[in-house]
Amino acid sequence: MTDQLIIFDTTLRDGEQSPGASMTRDEKLRIARQLERLKVDVIEAGFAASSQGDFEAIHTIARAVRDSTVCSLSRANEHDINLAADALQGAQRARIHTFIATSALHIEKKLRMTPDLVFEQAKSAVRLARNRVADVEFSAEDAYRSDEDFLCQIIEAVIKEGATTVNLPDTVGYAIPELYGAFIKNIRTRVPNSDLAIWSVHCHNDLGMAVANSLAGVKIGGARQVECTINGLGERAGNCSLEEVVMAVKTRRDYFDLNVRLDTTQILAASRLVSQTTGFVVQPNKAVVGANAFAHASGIHQDGVLKARDTYEIMRAEDVGWSANKIILGKLSGRNAFKQRLSDLGVMPKSEADVNLAFAKFKELADRKSEVFDEDILTLVCDDGTAPGQDHYVLVSMKQHSETGEMPQASVVFTMNGLEVTGTACGNGPVDASLKAIEVHAHSGAELVLYSVNAISGSTESQGEVTVRLQSKGRVVNGVGADLDIVVASAKAYLSALNKLHTKPDHVAAQG
Ligand code: KIV
Ligand code: ZN
Repeated sequence: MTDQLIIFDTTLRDGEQSPGASMTRDEKLRIARQLERLKVDVIEAGFAASSQGDFEAIHTIARAVRDSTVCSLSRANEHDINLAADALQGAQRARIHTFIATSALHIEKKLRMTPDLVFEQAKSAVRLARNRVADVEFSAEDAYRSDEDFLCQIIEAVIKEGATTVNLPDTVGYAIPELYGAFIKNIRTRVPNSDLAIWSVHCHNDLGMAVANSLAGVKIGGARQVECTINGLGERAGNCSLEEVVMAVKTRRDYFDLNVRLDTTQILAASRLVSQTTGFVVQPNKAVVGANAFAHASGIHQDGVLKARDTYEIMRAEDVGWSANKIILGKLSGRNAFKQRLSDLGVMPKSEADVNLAFAKFKELADRKSEVFDEDILTLVCDDGTAPGQDHYVLVSMKQHSETGEMPQASVVFTMNGLEVTGTACGNGPVDASLKAIEVHAHSGAELVLYSVNAISGSTESQGEVTVRLQSKGRVVNGVGADLDIVVASAKAYLSALNKLHTKPDHVAAQG
């Protein structure tokens, strides 16, 4: 019988730990809903003890998601475990994921504990967690650099205490595929009660091998859960990328012989949503979800693909959510065609009122742009949830003047807490002038640490998607804005970042 490979998505926890990727509760909920549509088995919704905001986000997701297990991370102590269990109240299926570091380096330098204490704390954490929920995962942080004898003892002990999944992370991305696969196999073979738990891999991408290491952990090591994030989002160089690992297992089923529950046609929508929400742009040549992943530029390749697709394509673009026909709608398209497109793209809003709102935005865009691409529609729908009424800063209108040899000038009308203000300023270019015009009233004192523009589709008619990263008082936030006019997109992105600085509570003690 073919085994099931469990897909554990940690975009909302480990992914969120990327500097600037922090998300609001509503953003997390929107992503969780998309992960549920994608049919991931487990959604790690956050780290309940890290902040009130994370606690609330987990609680909201636990009550909204029905078809995936919802999980909270927790350090191996009673306080964290109770908060995780409380946040998960109302979930259809809840998991507590408790962890403690097991490498000598982490135990001595970070935890300042003895191995015996770590051993006891891991056992009692799993025991406490099992008193609250039936599904408990234990992670040995920095497992790959841990002493193997110690690791075997601790894993055997936590399985005895009732851990249903045991995870051996390569926390710092140091592993090599063959070695990591052999490591998982070795520990699994040596632990006498290993068959009572599901074995999991969790790899970071510091040497660019997170996906390869995870696949080796599955194939060589026998792991049956992979922890991953959409677009490979995560601290430093990120985590194992969900879309890559899933499509590898699906495309090479002949080799892996594993079932994956996911509806892969939802992958692109998930990728767009995460990129839009966090401002982490997907590189064009990124496997599976990059704009060029299925584009054939060279004559020989184009000729081959036209004659027989499998000459150069190993996956079908449609299977991961790209539409076969990329130019889709225009200003004459009706509501039904638009609705069908939303459904094909897997981003159907929940209510007819939301469809109407998205359709109105589509019509407005189609009036200004002759061809509306899938990417535009995904942007429209992702934009939909920003609920401008709830934002502190909202753009009303703007104008700029720039002329060769003259200093550009911009005037921006926006609301601050509902009150309309107009800022006017000069700058080194129209974008610079517009952001300075906003600052005339916002006085954020934030430092701009990143500004990037990305064309959503391929032509000069394309919408520009702007990402702005601001740093203020130790916090880093990203704002994203899209518009046909890149100066307007820049103002939207800047205001979106200011909104995040205004509302997002600080996280504490982010780990892992
Ligand atoms: O990388 C890591 O070790 C983690 C653990 C908390 C699972 O994220
Ligand atoms: Zn991690």
